Amino acid sequence: MHKGFTLWFTGLSGSGKSTLSERIYRRLAAAGAKVELLDGDEVRTHLSKGLGFSKEDRDTNVRRIGFVAELLTKHGVIAITAAISPYRDTREAVQARIGTYVEVFMDCPIAVLAERDVKGLYKKALAGEIPHFTGVSDPYEPPVAPDVRVDSSSEDIAVSEARVWALLQDRGLIPVSW
Ligand code: ADX
Repeated sequence: MHKGFTLWFTGLSGSGKSTLSERIYRRLAAAGAKVELLDGDEVRTHLSKGLGFSKEDRDTNVRRIGFVAELLTKHGVIAITAAISPYRDTREAVQARIGTYVEVFMDCPIAVLAERDVKGLYKKALAGEIPHFTGVSDPYEPPVAPDVRVDSSSEDIAVSEARVWALLQDRGLIPVSW
């Protein structure tokens, strides 16, 4: 029916990773796919509980997510991940282990994220109240060649969803009849 693969979302906090990944997740589940969603915020309440935001802790978090995604992918499940995953070399290491990996880069201007500030974190980070906040006082290394690049500040989410879906079909990962 479908292949096992990992759909990896990366991008700053508030860039739309959770929203878009959830839409793809629900659409795949509705089509009857075997699919799991590993969302950064949720992973940090269970699998990565206690980890912080140092480079070491983020790398541990991302490698754990990658490890679970690798197991799921190997067994024919679609694994969708949505964590900032800020470091390029860590993403590339995870990708190399997983094999069938599709990367979606949520690329939203920082000014828009700070303006939206859904969780109220950018305001605090810009005021210096959250040290090591990604994009403000901590690095984010954008993918060099993502499979899909989405700017959620300028593109309608239905269009982004359709582009990701079409790519999965073009790659032969899900049926064209879906
Ligand atoms: S990652 O860097 O390890 O991939 P992850 O996606 O799990 O990050 O967690 C990011 C979420 O944690 C953000 O959406 C935000 O809600 C929260 N957060 C708290 N502190 C920070 C910080 N210093 N930098 C980034 N996000 C933070």
